[in-house]
Amino acid sequence: MPTITHIEELRLLAKRRVPRMFYDYADSGSWSESTYRANSEDFQGIQFRQRVAVNMEGRTTASQMIGQDVAMPVALAPTGLTGMQHADGEILAARAAKAFGVPFTLSTMSICSIEDVAQGTGGHPFWFQLYVMRDRDFIERLIDRAKAAGCSALVLTLDLQILGQRHKDIKNGLSAPPKPTLANLVNLCTKPRWCLGMLGTPRRQFGNIVGHVKGVEDMSSLGEWTAQQFDPRLNWNDVQWIKKRWGGKLILKGIQDPEDARLAVDAGADALIVSNHGGRQLDGAQSSIEALPGVVAAVGRDIEVHMDGGIRSGQDVLKALALGAQGTYIGRAFLYGLGAMGQAGVSKALQIIHKELDLSMAFCGRTRVADVDSSILLPGTFPTA
Ligand code: GLV
Repeated sequence: MPTITHIEELRLLAKRRVPRMFYDYADSGSWSESTYRANSEDFQGIQFRQRVAVNMEGRTTASQMIGQDVAMPVALAPTGLTGMQHADGEILAARAAKAFGVPFTLSTMSICSIEDVAQGTGGHPFWFQLYVMRDRDFIERLIDRAKAAGCSALVLTLDLQILGQRHKDIKNGLSAPPKPTLANLVNLCTKPRWCLGMLGTPRRQFGNIVGHVKGVEDMSSLGEWTAQQFDPRLNWNDVQWIKKRWGGKLILKGIQDPEDARLAVDAGADALIVSNHGGRQLDGAQSSIEALPGVVAAVGRDIEVHMDGGIRSGQDVLKALALGAQGTYIGRAFLYGLGAMGQAGVSKALQIIHKELDLSMAFCGRTRVADVDSSILLPGTFPTA
């Protein structure tokens, strides 16, 4: 196999190795996918100021997110069905994150359960992402399970009370595990590695949910599940209730608007994530990197501002840091690695992004993340509040 040196190569390999319905699930946005594309395209127009003859020795990308030490300010984002990109995907990704020294965030809609990941990482703390469902007893139990597993932050997603329409998922009949239709069986025949992995694991359903919610023994379709169970009435009072019940570090995910950012501060969050759910919800919304400066201006230093959406390189991370993000998240960039090569692929994705971040920061004349601000960017090329 040729030496892999950038994220795009991991994507191409994942596309070959992962069954079509799961590759498409990860690699698509809602409706016309305009926001999905804008998330990464809008990074491209932002230009750095190259500086020379600056001492570049002794560099480090180490910093902190919500007071926790990180090897670089890049966490693994919560992504649904990660264990369908590769057998035991959530456990493998969490192990890669632990080895690298960055946070792993487990999605409510994961295949491996909270307990599976805690056990698979030897009790190393990870972050848990929560969706609010109609069944409040279930939410309370999920929060308690996350506490019992030693999760060190709760990431509460606020932008998925209802599901944005993703054409490919509907056409592919997305389900976990895949239904034995002719089209699926024909496609699975071309993915022997994936099939072998899946045969070797018992984890093939939504591990946090099946068997934990009354009456849900066979819940395979994400679309049906969200339509029935996700709570469309979610509001800021619920955020207060969850904060109290959790009692630990709280990160609010899915903020795009400065007014919502202030409400997140008022709600007592430790951080918020500027996010449009990877362009999977409101198609036509602003890209995350465009929305970031407005949110940073609204929040000031009151709480940490993180961002996700469109990051495919360390240069993208550096641009987000320059525009005021204290932390960033990669979703697809690590899923490509996972689908391509399992745990080694996630490690590879982290190494690639780290190296790009480290070298680009140095070329801009900075040796520490704390010294990165908008003065490393060429005026006129970046979005402002
Ligand atoms: C969330 O789980 C999603 O599919 O975007």
